[in-house]
Amino acid sequence: MNGLLSYTFRDLNRKKYPISVTASDFTRPLTVTLRDGATVLLRTVAPHDKQRLREGVAQLSGQSLYQRFFTSFVKLTDEQLRYLTEVDGVDHVAFGALDVGGEGQPGVGLARYVRLLEEPNVAEAAVAVVDAWQGRGLGSLLVAALGRCAAADGLTHFRGFILEENRGLLRYLNALGAATRHSEPGLMQVDLPLYTRPEDTPPTRAGRHFAEALRRLQGAAISPAQEPPVAARRGGGGER
Ligand SMILES: CC(C)(COP(=O)(O)OP(=O)(O)OC[C@H]1O[C@@H](n2cnc3c(N)ncnc32)[C@H](O)[C@@H]1OP(=O)(O)O)[C@@H](O)C(=O)NCCC(=O)NCCS
Repeated sequence: MNGLLSYTFRDLNRKKYPISVTASDFTRPLTVTLRDGATVLLRTVAPHDKQRLREGVAQLSGQSLYQRFFTSFVKLTDEQLRYLTEVDGVDHVAFGALDVGGEGQPGVGLARYVRLLEEPNVAEAAVAVVDAWQGRGLGSLLVAALGRCAAADGLTHFRGFILEENRGLLRYLNALGAATRHSEPGLMQVDLPLYTRPEDTPPTRAGRHFAEALRRLQGAAISPAQEPPVAARRGGGGER
């Protein structure tokens, strides 16, 4: 199965890019209001998010799990949790969205990219939003935030591997200017150009939708304080 972000955990043989410019401006926690008025905290994923991630995955339906991980039963191992939360912030960047109004600020969406060594301008990206939060603009917001960060670091495209049956998403990405091709039976490889300015998105419904996400990011407030980690909230001893 293709995909650095699936659970094959192949050796990424990651090297650091010496002129990386992953600007702190693009990774500061942001408070963003969605179009239905809900507020999320958008921030980079941290090692203390392991429990939050576990709980978030449990909120995904079988179908969403299948579309993201290509299997509808996901029980994250410690190794997988480490991989998904202990990112280097350079070649592997991850943003999470927390529900500010929810008890303990649960994780409701997650997006990440891993830069491809063989194509340094391209990163493999993946995103998931818990079912109760889908269709509210959060997926686009996460990809827009991730894309802004990636573009600041010299990347030009995100590559995704998307099931052919995930037709709604494929239609959306096509209308957003993505190039798609068959990768293997049932799986499409999708290369999406990175947009950082609302005026650069295509004049399609998807383009306008994504432009709205970029505008929301521009209008976002830098968040004053980090929320407590899940374990600390419960009086636990922490994850590490
Ligand atoms: C794909 C996903 C992240 C989108 O998140 P979201 O918060 O619903 O995204 P948005 O609200 O910004 O919607 C973006 C567009 O996605 C399209 N879309 C995504 N999934 C769709 C689906 N299953 N059916 C129809 N449309 C879909 C819609 O066209 C929507 O645009 P619209 O509101 O203008 O119609 C979310 O559906 C999800 O987590 N799915 C399961 C995991 C997955 O498929 N990940 C992608 C592969 S890594």
